[in-house]
Amino acid sequence: MIPILGLCLTAASVSADMIDTSGLKSWEHCALCHGVDGNSRVAKFPKLAGQRYGYLVKQLKDFKSETRQNDGGPMLGMSDQLSLAALSSAARYYSELTPPRPADDVIAPAVRALGERIFHYGLPAKEVPACVSCHGDAVADGTNFPRLEAQHAGYLEKQLDDFRRADRDNDPGGVMRRIAVGLSQTERQAVVAYLAGKPRSAEGGQ
Ligand code: HEC
Ligand code: HEC
Repeated sequence: MIPILGLCLTAASVSADMIDTSGLKSWEHCALCHGVDGNSRVAKFPKLAGQRYGYLVKQLKDFKSETRQNDGGPMLGMSDQLSLAALSSAARYYSELTPPRPADDVIAPAVRALGERIFHYGLPAKEVPACVSCHGDAVADGTNFPRLEAQHAGYLEKQLDDFRRADRDNDPGGVMRRIAVGLSQTERQAVVAYLAGKPRSAEGGQ
C-alpha cells in the first residue's frame, strides 16, 4: 500500500509559524498593525503614511538596537526579525504614501485654543518651546523631526507620557524628555487633541 504523505496534517497542526512569509514585500509585514495605506485605525498603532523617511528609519534603527523600547514588544520583535534593508524599504513605502486626513472629533474651543497656543508659541513661562519650530510644515524635508499633525491623539499622548517618565529615551539630547516634563496633563491633552485635528501639508514626507 502506498502511504499517503501528509495525512497527519490536522488543522491544529497548521500554526502561524508554518505560514510562508518569505515572499512578502517588506511593508506587508507591517500592514496588519499600521495598515496597507499607512493609516492605522487604532490609536495604539501610529499612522505612518507620509511620515518623514529619515524619522521612520531612525526609529526602526532605534528599535533594532533597543535604544527605543516603549512599544510593548511588537516593534522590537519586528525589527529583530527583518534586516535593516527590509525595514528601510518599508519606511520608504510608508513615507511616500498620501499623508493621513485629520480627525474630525469635536474639540471644546478652550482646549483647542490652548493646544494651538502651545503648538505655535510654546509656554515661555515654563520654558516650553513652540512645537512648530521643530515639527511644523516649514521645517525642511530630510530632517528627523516627525510630523505630528493628523496623528492619533492617543498615540501622541502616550509618547509624551513615555518621554515624561523616560520610558522613551531615544530623543537626541533629551529634547523631548525636557519638553514633556514641562507640560501638565491638561496641556499635553490639549496639544495632542489640537494636533490630531490639524491637517498636514501634502509634502510627501521625504
Ligand atoms: C503587531 C503590530 C505591529 C507590527 C506588525 C508592526 N508594528 Fe510598528 N508599531 C507598533 C506599535 C504598537 C507601535 C507604537 C509603539 C509605541 O507606543 O511607542 C509601533 C511603532 C512604529 C514606528 C514608530 C512611529 C513613530 O511615529 O515614532 C515605526 C516607524 C514603525 N512602527 C514601523 C513599522 C514597520 C516598518 C513595520 C513592518 C516592518 C511595523 N512597524 C510592524 C506595532 C506594530
Ligand atoms: C527643539 C526641537 C523640538 C521641539 C521644540 C519639540 N520637539 Fe517634539 N520631537 C523632537 C525630536 C527630535 C523628536 C524625535 C525624537 C526621536 O528621534 O525619537 C520629537 C518627537 C516628538 C514626539 C513623538 C512623535 C512620534 O511619532 O512618536 C511627540 C509626540 C512630540 N515630539 C511632541 C512635541 C510637542 C507637543 C512639542 C511642543 C510642546 C514638541 N514636540 C517640541 C524635537 C522637538
